[in-house]
Amino acid sequence: MFLKYLYQRLASYRFKKIHPIIRLLKKSFGEQDPGEINFNFSTEPTRMQIIQKIIDKKKYNSYLEIGTNTNELFLEIVCEKKIGVDPYSGGNKRMTSDSFFKQNEEKFDCIFIDGLHHYDQVKKDIINSINCLNNNGAILIHDCLPKNISAQSIPRTELVWNGDVWKALVEQRTNENLDCYTILADQGIGLILKRKNRDILKIDTNNFKKLKFSYFYENHKKIMNIFKFEQILRII
Ligand SMILES: C[S@@+](CC[C@H](N)C(=O)[O-])C[C@H]1O[C@@H](n2cnc3c(N)ncnc32)[C@H](O)[C@@H]1O
Repeated sequence: MFLKYLYQRLASYRFKKIHPIIRLLKKSFGEQDPGEINFNFSTEPTRMQIIQKIIDKKKYNSYLEIGTNTNELFLEIVCEKKIGVDPYSGGNKRMTSDSFFKQNEEKFDCIFIDGLHHYDQVKKDIINSINCLNNNGAILIHDCLPKNISAQSIPRTELVWNGDVWKALVEQRTNENLDCYTILADQGIGLILKRKNRDILKIDTNNFKKLKFSYFYENHKKIMNIFKFEQILRII
């Protein structure tokens, strides 16, 4: 009982030194591990190639990146107007995505969401992005395909980490006015287009945060609407 209580308390904090303890407690009291999904990204294009190809194909003029870190992606992207938002490093706006969207009055053609990988934050980033996306624009979301339960664990316990971003994409898959896909590449790249949903997801919940990894493990192909990038290029 005490250990379970301790695990629940620790799981609500975000500090790094405790990771081995959280990992151990998670193993004992967290969700059962269903195993690993064999996503093979190694032969697929990178996020840089995908974003640039979409910008070029659609003749986009403006690019917004949420979460720029070391600028590995931000500096590579070629686009007339570029804004990169990060409270700690990279980009050209030193602030959180919430603060950015609060004061932003501009519209963008392409938005890449790659900030804090927690469902609640990603959901906010998606809604704020929809509100400043040009009609013909595209929202891309990194880290939508975690291969195992540790990779999606909140709080973070692993170096290679996707968080529970996938839940926010699943939620948008139920929206009849947004057309959503996941590109099988580079940790899974969600794609949201402002048009009628061509394959609306029916799901028996409205509490998406509570979805379990075991549900993702069993249903990822259907709920994430996964396609290779070459197929995506034909439908955008
Ligand atoms: C995975 S890294 C981004 C990597 C980068 N987009 C790339 O492709 O190379 C995540 C970044 O999100 C930033 N971040 C964390 N919380 C954020 C927030 N609330 N708003 C914006 N960025 C945030 C972190 O500082 C970190 O640099």
